Amino acid sequence: MFFMSDSNRVYIFDTTLRDGEQSPGVSLNAEEKLQIARQLVRLGVDVIEAGFPVSSPGDFRAVQAIARDVRGVTVAALARAEKPDIDTAWEAIRMADQPRIHTFIATSDIHLQHKLRMSREKVLETAEAAVKWAKGYTSDVEFSAEDASRSDPDFLCQVLETAINAGATVINIPDTVGYAAPDEFARLIREIRSRVRGIEKVILSVHCHDDLGLAVANSLAAVMAGANQVEGAINGIGERAGNASLEEVIMALHTRRDQFGKITRIRTQEIYRTSRLVSNLTGMVIQPNKAVVGRNAFAHESGIHQDGVLKERTTYEIMNPVMVGLSHSNLVLGKHSGRHAFRERLEELGYSLNPAELNKAFQSFKVLADRKKEVTDHDLEAIVEEEIRMVNPVYTLDYIHISSGSTVVPTATVGLLRGEEKLQEAACGNGPVDAICRAVDKVTGISCTLASWEIQAVTSGTDALGEVTLKITPDGKRFYVGRGISTDILEASTKAYVNAVNKLIWDSENGK
Ligand code: KIV
Ligand code: ZN
Repeated sequence: MFFMSDSNRVYIFDTTLRDGEQSPGVSLNAEEKLQIARQLVRLGVDVIEAGFPVSSPGDFRAVQAIARDVRGVTVAALARAEKPDIDTAWEAIRMADQPRIHTFIATSDIHLQHKLRMSREKVLETAEAAVKWAKGYTSDVEFSAEDASRSDPDFLCQVLETAINAGATVINIPDTVGYAAPDEFARLIREIRSRVRGIEKVILSVHCHDDLGLAVANSLAAVMAGANQVEGAINGIGERAGNASLEEVIMALHTRRDQFGKITRIRTQEIYRTSRLVSNLTGMVIQPNKAVVGRNAFAHESGIHQDGVLKERTTYEIMNPVMVGLSHSNLVLGKHSGRHAFRERLEELGYSLNPAELNKAFQSFKVLADRKKEVTDHDLEAIVEEEIRMVNPVYTLDYIHISSGSTVVPTATVGLLRGEEKLQEAACGNGPVDAICRAVDKVTGISCTLASWEIQAVTSGTDALGEVTLKITPDGKRFYVGRGISTDILEASTKAYVNAVNKLIWDSENGK
């Protein structure tokens, strides 16, 4: 039994929607960001970093939508240490229940000389002015010393003290390029705790990148050394190799409370669902052996292990899968199940759909149940997540007809609906997927290149749902992720392609 006071609390700062969205090839629209933000609230994070409002009008609108929508959580917006950035950040989050401006400037000599081309004096001055300016808008101001782990500790401490004196309430120490080693990073945190005047009055945060695969280890070492906020992203997504995986940090703190002596206010049962949602909407597929949320994280292959787990789960499982929201039951519904049972099962899985969404999801379930003998929880999740993805699409799939084989030219006829309007086109291609893409391009009048295409089975068996994740690009610079599910992989490919095109259209119409 552990008794904890607030001083044992670790605040969880989620940057999936900001740093996570900086992952190469990831682009979320406002509706998708909102879906993730709502799920992060259910997960119980303390802070949602909703975006970098000055970076684009689309991101500004997404941050604003989140700030207006979610309650009971701090909504942060990122801003460089410049007045226009801070003004825009504030404009985006001013309606939030608990707004936070997060401003940053680099402190390492490498960044000062080559990127900022600023003297140390100028950085000190800029940091102070930025925090004071942000403070004019809100009491909650976070200051980050970018590339802190490669900065001269004397100068770093001087900048942090200046930021605290200017009014910063959270001081964040990023390992921006994932260079630090756990012992070294812990030493830096201890040094900051002991040297920086006023540090005891503020939250001391860390933000670690995973270039050497050490982001989670560095974050936990920092917690042991006195950090009380950890920043990270769901599934560890983010710039380059990504950020610290929040689900790993959370479950390490939870499972090894004896070691860390810390608590969070996270509802761990929401972890799996959050991870799936982020993966679905970003198109970043989770590696099967990923800790906590990978498909194999709780799978036991060897006979000895299976035997052990059957006799006593804890022989080979240090976490109960139920703790992260993995349900035990497998077969749930079938062809004869009614709407009531369907809704109840979805509610047990944590989804509450409005009547229109429920109707659509139920229709998809019936179609699936006709094709597939056993409809599992994973199938249901895939159906619901597809409904979430399909919010206000311009085009939806009506039908496809494919002709393909080793002796014929692959040809696709695709019927799409735009509102009530029925549109159809046919095209040939190098293969059936290529033919589908060309036919969709003809209908929409938008020509795209397929940058990647992947398929995963949602469940096992020959009648399993296949989930296609693909990326398209209209110009080699902007990339859009699309997903589609079906028991037929060509239908799943068409849905995924149309899903990506809808995002492209949304972005063009919303100035992203
Ligand atoms: O990695 C980094 O340094 C950042 C800062 C903006 C916090 O993302
Ligand atoms: Zn970062």
